[in-house]
Amino acid sequence: MTPPIERILFTEEEIAARIREVAAQITRDYQGRTLKLIGVLKGSVFFLTELARRIEVPVKVDFLGISSFSNRSGAPGVVRIAKDLDESIEGEDVVLVEDIVDTGFTLRYLLQTLAGRAPNSLAVCTFLDRNSRRIVQVHVDYRCFEIPDRFVVGFGLDHNQLYRNLGYVAVLKP
Ligand code: IMP
Ligand code: MG
Repeated sequence: MTPPIERILFTEEEIAARIREVAAQITRDYQGRTLKLIGVLKGSVFFLTELARRIEVPVKVDFLGISSFSNRSGAPGVVRIAKDLDESIEGEDVVLVEDIVDTGFTLRYLLQTLAGRAPNSLAVCTFLDRNSRRIVQVHVDYRCFEIPDRFVVGFGLDHNQLYRNLGYVAVLKP
């Protein structure tokens, strides 16, 4: 199967190298602590596992699932938790791991929800950042790549649930 790709944005090698850099940054920042990585299903799973393997402080992993939909006027921003975390995050050093931050609605909702559960700290690590489309201002602590305003697939990102398993990130043909 050849996916309908316009061009490759980041190759497997570029992704691996960049994840190593970000993992090294996180390792430095969390020296002497134990991290809880929280992945947002399903997109961030691919990124989270690569990142976790490169981090050199003790790491715990948990996941939550969300569903997002438009409101009646068609505007985005309605998000709810469809599958909650398995364990409490009270007193923990949490890094929320996202596949992409686009408008910022999803991230704002998740940060508000998680902050209400009294973690010791709460940071954000995203694989991709499309800052040009941001509607809600949210703080991103770690990012691998900034991307242009095009729909992308691969390395966890899907189109109708397909192409998550591509090793690279590519712009889909319009
Ligand atoms: P937002 O930041 O609330 O707008 O939502 C980001 C979510 O939209 C991500 O978690 C993805 O599920 C989805 N998304 C946004 N842009 C893309 C893309 O280019 N490809 C695939 N999914 C995307
Ligand atoms: Mg997502």
